[in-house]
Amino acid sequence: MVSKKPQLERMESVLEERERTGVPDAILLEDYLSERAFIDNLKKRYHENIIYTYIGQVVISVNPYKDLGLYTEDYLEKYRNVNFYEVPPHVFAITENAYRSMTAEVTDHCILISGESGAGKTEASKQVLRFLAATSLHRREIDRVRDRLLQSNPLLEAFGNAKTNRNDNSSRFGKYMDIEFNFKGDPVGGHILNYLLEKSRVVHQEDGERNFHIFYQLLAGAPDELLEKLHLQRDANYYFYLKQGNSCHVHTINDRASFEAVDHALDILNFTTDEQEAIWGVVGAIIHLGNVSFKADDDGLAKVVDETPVKNCSKLIGCDSAELLKALTHRTIEARGDVVTSPLNPDQAVYARDALAKSVYERVFNWLVIRLNQSLQSPESGRKTLLGILDIYGFEIFEKNGFEQFCINYCNEKLQQVFIELTLKSEQEEYRREGIEWEQVQYFDNKIICDLVEEKHKGIISLLDEECLRPGEATDFTFLAKMNSHLASHNHYFSYDTSDNSKVKKTINKDEFRLRHYAGEVAYRVQGFLDKNNDLLFRDLKETMTHTSNMIITSVFPKDELLRKRRPDTAATQFKNSLVELMSILMSKEPSYIRCIKPNDDKRSYYFDEERVSHQVKYLGLMENLRVRRAGFAYRRAYEIFLARYKSICPATWPHHHGLAKDGVKAIVQHLGYPPDDFRLGETKLFIRLPKTLFLTEDALQIRKGELATMIQAKWKAFMYQRRYERMRAAVTTVAKHWRRVVAQRLRARRKWAVGVVRAFVKGFITRNEPVNPTNARFQQLVKCEYLLRLSKSLPNSVLDPRWPDAPSTCTEASKILHGFHRTYLARKYVKALLPEKRVMFEEKVLAEQLFKGKKVSYPQSLPNWFVTSRLDPASESLRKTAFEDIIKMTGEKTKYCVPCTKYDRHGYKPRDRILILTSGALYLLEAKENKLKQKHRFSLKEVQGLHVSPNTDNLLLIQIPVENAKRDKSAVACDPNPKGDLILNVPNVIEAVTKIISISDNSEVLKIAESESIGHTMKNGKQGTIMLNTGSSVTTINKNKEGKLQVLAEDEKHGNMIM
Ligand SMILES: Nc1ncnc2c1ncn2[C@@H]1O[C@H](COP(=O)(O)OP(=O)(O)OP(=O)(O)O)[C@@H](O)[C@H]1O
Ligand SMILES: [Mg+2]
Repeated sequence: MVSKKPQLERMESVLEERERTGVPDAILLEDYLSERAFIDNLKKRYHENIIYTYIGQVVISVNPYKDLGLYTEDYLEKYRNVNFYEVPPHVFAITENAYRSMTAEVTDHCILISGESGAGKTEASKQVLRFLAATSLHRREIDRVRDRLLQSNPLLEAFGNAKTNRNDNSSRFGKYMDIEFNFKGDPVGGHILNYLLEKSRVVHQEDGERNFHIFYQLLAGAPDELLEKLHLQRDANYYFYLKQGNSCHVHTINDRASFEAVDHALDILNFTTDEQEAIWGVVGAIIHLGNVSFKADDDGLAKVVDETPVKNCSKLIGCDSAELLKALTHRTIEARGDVVTSPLNPDQAVYARDALAKSVYERVFNWLVIRLNQSLQSPESGRKTLLGILDIYGFEIFEKNGFEQFCINYCNEKLQQVFIELTLKSEQEEYRREGIEWEQVQYFDNKIICDLVEEKHKGIISLLDEECLRPGEATDFTFLAKMNSHLASHNHYFSYDTSDNSKVKKTINKDEFRLRHYAGEVAYRVQGFLDKNNDLLFRDLKETMTHTSNMIITSVFPKDELLRKRRPDTAATQFKNSLVELMSILMSKEPSYIRCIKPNDDKRSYYFDEERVSHQVKYLGLMENLRVRRAGFAYRRAYEIFLARYKSICPATWPHHHGLAKDGVKAIVQHLGYPPDDFRLGETKLFIRLPKTLFLTEDALQIRKGELATMIQAKWKAFMYQRRYERMRAAVTTVAKHWRRVVAQRLRARRKWAVGVVRAFVKGFITRNEPVNPTNARFQQLVKCEYLLRLSKSLPNSVLDPRWPDAPSTCTEASKILHGFHRTYLARKYVKALLPEKRVMFEEKVLAEQLFKGKKVSYPQSLPNWFVTSRLDPASESLRKTAFEDIIKMTGEKTKYCVPCTKYDRHGYKPRDRILILTSGALYLLEAKENKLKQKHRFSLKEVQGLHVSPNTDNLLLIQIPVENAKRDKSAVACDPNPKGDLILNVPNVIEAVTKIISISDNSEVLKIAESESIGHTMKNGKQGTIMLNTGSSVTTINKNKEGKLQVLAEDEKHGNMIM
């Protein structure tokens, strides 16, 4: 069993309070068989301002006659969504319970409110409606429905309630209201059924009573303009229909405020201005009609005393006042085709007037209900569940009881029958049927009284109808006689004539009959029974009503009514039929009960008249109810239904139970751990003794529902994700498929293109050597591109690098051009990068090339080495720097070249070591001796006439100087006092030295490379010497030969070790 600690604690605190406040449920009474104990409990609670007590799930409400603040918003909240047994008894609790079962089980429910007049039925019904209307979340549409449902009350109460001696706001009509809920449990509409309005009140009120509230509300609350329009005065005492009870003003009633409430309700319920005007017109017209009085004229016929009220009345309902006047004083009878109109006497005229007033009021009331139902109609289609509220007039015993009380009490008998039927009889029968061990509880079955009233042909209503329809002089007394003759032997019927007992006889008037109702004996006066049952409205008045312009009157008095031949059902029969219908409505629903008890007859708070209460407890059958409840089971459900609802709680029955439903229920019950005495397993149903057990089961279901919801959510999510995944996967496959197709198509196209390209290439290759044509043009272009690309990557980097890539045949020409360009480019680059000294060196090399290339055999050997400016050893060099630069060198000259050399005398060709120094202007020949330099020769470079060299590998240099110069040389140069003609030198780097001299003198003409094997040289005094130039030696030698000539024998070229 699901156990909850807080609930136990709550229960304990309830027990502690029990002493003071009694028990909340009479089932808990120890002495439950004692009525005394039961009433004491009610009284105890009543004095503690606790007006509600349960018998099981029946609420007993004792009217507190004061506001206890039990219906505030806080209470509404407190009772919402809680289990019945967790909160103190209240009408809200039973309403919540009914509402919850309705929404959970999708069944129709009804709440039956019973009790005698003034016991608090209407108050309870209003609270039930309030609670239900507030169930929904606030949405505009629902709020609108809720407002309308709530506003139907003040309107219907104004027209259907009146002050009686029992109750200042007594309901004078029966009301059953269905509230419609959609599947979400929101109220979406409503429907009202009304029962037998006590219309006689419109024309007559007992002392201390009033007409229906609306008349007084109109006079007290209507604005002056409206009253003026209706030709009414504020003072109700001015109007006959309103003042008969001598209590127009009641201190507990605020008519003015009520008028405003009605006015507001009409707006909320969407009554149009025309409709509202028509309503006030009718109410005003009835008030005026009451003031139409008659006197007898000379012939004893009725004559209106004052026509003003007639005129006012006809004005308000929009008919011709003369016609109305005539209709009020005449009666037309149609008999066998003849139409006879006869004047009425004053009594008949009063009867006609009252009949008109009653009829108009009743019909307008019915119209109001129809109109209200239109406003409450649910716009939603689809399945709706209903929760009905029955608030019908309570049992009445007045001093003088008439036809109305007869009907009202008959209605209460019927309701009691439903109660018995559903709570006592059928329940006990069910236990027997279901095989539950059961000790029969005795109760009074009021079927016998219902039959007495309604049985066909034998019942009072049948007898009354017969008497009404019987030809001949039927009166209320002939009706009484008829009943006496037919019902004399009935145990629940008494009259003066049928009573043998003189004691009883004394208490009964001759014009009365007495019925022993379930709630007590009531004596009814027969006067008026026939009339009220016939409910006759003279034809003239009906006809006049069909001629009015008031929209409500015209709609409630349809013209075709006049043409109907068939007599309408009598009032009692109509009422009986409507009750039969009501009973079937109630029986088709799950009932809940609110039993209202009136604590005293004085409308006093804090006064608990035990005798009065005891009486009600008896006739309401509460003790029997308690006994059955106590012994019985609060809740029962067919196994299938119970299993269907709760199978999710038990693993053995969830999700499917295979086998008998009973076994499934057994498994659930065991799973929940019901104590053995708390339930019984019947033939077809499970019986649960206490509501608490059921509520705990319900709690377990709610918890389980939560779990299931989470599970469903998870499954749903998984399903959704799975579906989404599958969709995505399918999409991916589709995309991939298409993509593969696209890729394949592209590949195919590419391959096709490639095949074309390759084919063209091959063709181009085959025809590559043909002149350019379309077939090979592309190939050739490619070849050229390829060649250029290749070339670009393999270009020589250095000007000295002679390599040049091979070119295909088509590019040979371009290759050549490009080679040239490239070399030029490299050369330019090289040159640009050269330092000035290097440049000079280069120029010297270029000069050397021009001078010696192909002319002197040793030239190629000179190529790899740069020319230098000095080839002196360090000692000679330092000597040069000191001696030559500072002493010998002529001012302004710059030293350009120094080289050691051998000088051969012109006579004898003796070799002597000398140093040759070349300056910017002259050529010096110096002798280095003892660490000194001695100038031997100096020539201006301009004076050099020839520079003779051999074409061989030797280094002979013959510097030819003009003789005169030689002379001048002699004279000019003191250090060479013996000029001997041309200078014969062996300069180790002859190409370098010659190039330098020519470079400085800028005269290449002077170079003479011998073309023969001998060269001549001039000696002193113009003598000629000869130098023989030969080759064929392995080493170069220069010697004086036998012929006295200088023999230069050059090393062969092949030896090639020459320095220059
Ligand atoms: N729960 C309550 N709290 C306070 N006062 C109440 C309560 N119930 C009833 N009354 C008082 O009792 C009066 C009569 O109640 P109500 O009109 O509901 O009686 P009723 O049973 O409908 O009578 P009738 O059969 O005449 O219509 C109310 O006007 C109100 O003053
Ligand atoms: Mg009422």
